[in-house]
Amino acid sequence: MKLAGQSHSLINRLALLFALLTFAATATLGYALYRALEQQLTVRDDAALVNRVDQLRTLLRDVDVVDLIRQKPHLFANMLGNREALLVLQYPGQAPLIEVNPGNSRVPDVKPVVADAPLSLDAVHHRIEPDGTPFIAVSAAAITSHAQEPLLITSGRLLTERTRMLGNYRDQIVLLAAIMSVLSALLAYWIARRGLSPLRKLAEQTGAIGIRNLSVRIDSADAPQELLPLITGFNGMLDRLESSFTQLSQVSADMAHDLRTPIGNMLGQTEVALGQRRDVEYYQRLLGSNFEELQRLSKMTDSMLFLARAEHADHVIERKAVDVSAEFQRLADYFEGPAEERDVRLVLRGEGGVWADAVLLRRALANLLANAVRYAEPGSEIILAASQEAEGTTITVENTGPTIAEHHLARLFDRFYRADPSRHASSSSSGLGLAIVRSIMTLHQGKWSAESRDGVTCFSLFFPTAQQ
Ligand SMILES: Nc1ncnc2c1ncn2[C@@H]1O[C@H](COP(=O)(O)OP(=O)(O)O)[C@@H](O)[C@H]1O
Ligand SMILES: [Mg+2]
Repeated sequence: MKLAGQSHSLINRLALLFALLTFAATATLGYALYRALEQQLTVRDDAALVNRVDQLRTLLRDVDVVDLIRQKPHLFANMLGNREALLVLQYPGQAPLIEVNPGNSRVPDVKPVVADAPLSLDAVHHRIEPDGTPFIAVSAAAITSHAQEPLLITSGRLLTERTRMLGNYRDQIVLLAAIMSVLSALLAYWIARRGLSPLRKLAEQTGAIGIRNLSVRIDSADAPQELLPLITGFNGMLDRLESSFTQLSQVSADMAHDLRTPIGNMLGQTEVALGQRRDVEYYQRLLGSNFEELQRLSKMTDSMLFLARAEHADHVIERKAVDVSAEFQRLADYFEGPAEERDVRLVLRGEGGVWADAVLLRRALANLLANAVRYAEPGSEIILAASQEAEGTTITVENTGPTIAEHHLARLFDRFYRADPSRHASSSSSGLGLAIVRSIMTLHQGKWSAESRDGVTCFSLFFPTAQQ
């Protein structure tokens, strides 16, 4: 119903087009038939007139006929004439022997066919009367036994009957064309409506899909072939929407969960503190603890903000050739304190350049190193290495420590994902570090992966070179 009511409807256009086409086809055919009939009738009428004049010629050759006509002109006039016909028999320069002209047609001034020449259709003279009715006439000389001079026969006919018949025929053709075009418009309307019903069904199905039933897919079972690409496209779109939507709601659930812990801690501690008067040291400790929680919250919101910005399609990064060994050294200096605290040593390998945004590269490597330092076994080494290939640079961070189970590895880079659930409450773990690494690598069109086997965990980042 909606479809037909819209500003321009396919169905209505189709029906109108069909109607016009049918009218044009029927009218053209009708016109061609009309012309053919008109031509045939013309030939027939012409032949009849020629025939009549010919018969008169033969008749007049008879010895007595002219005398008989002279004696009883009225009898002959009645016999030979009729309502539509003109007949004039006349010796040149004399009064006519017979003049029948019921229609009061103008007697045509035609050059007569000479007496001994045979009559053909060419002898017929055509004329249109002022009222539009055709008039035909033949004039011929006839030899009579009576006189030396030939008798002139002029016979004509007003084609009223024929004009009326052709007019009727024309009206019928127009009527028929009109009826046919109305019928074909109705038929086209019906066919198009039927043909478009799968489209209406598709619209109904898509209209029924919302957030609550994102997992519903459009049924392509009895859809016509032409709609299959559309349905496949829709279903593909739904797949992507559903997975993004699930991811988003997972992220916000995780975020709420992670915000709850520090806020709950602060609320609880503050409430206890407010319960009674405390000494200064108590308040100092409380503030210190709150400060830590606030730091954690602030780090988390910073990370969330970074991820949200990085996901914007128009986020631009400023890539340049960054010197690997200088960058490694800078990170080693930064992590010197924490590494010493955990009794681990940083080993740096590799040189050359890497095509990256220096700030983002630093942030990604710092996140990997922070994890490595945190999880490394005391007394072990953390290896920070770079290897150059034609297509780009791979940087790896490797440490000895707990093995990450296979099923965690794939999800490690998801937001808020932690392999070790006990770390949820830890103030140093946000579960966002590797998610940030992933989005930095996405911005660089690079690759990222994690491996963990026999107590050795290795994260690799691949940065493509400038050309790629
Ligand atoms: N070097 C590593 N050794 C073992 N587990 C690791 C290592 N790096 C990361 N992980 C696991 O991956 C999880 C996600 O890391 P990350 O995204 O940096 O979050 P966070 O460090 O805040 O917990 C960590 O919680 C930890 O379980
Ligand atoms: Mg981390």
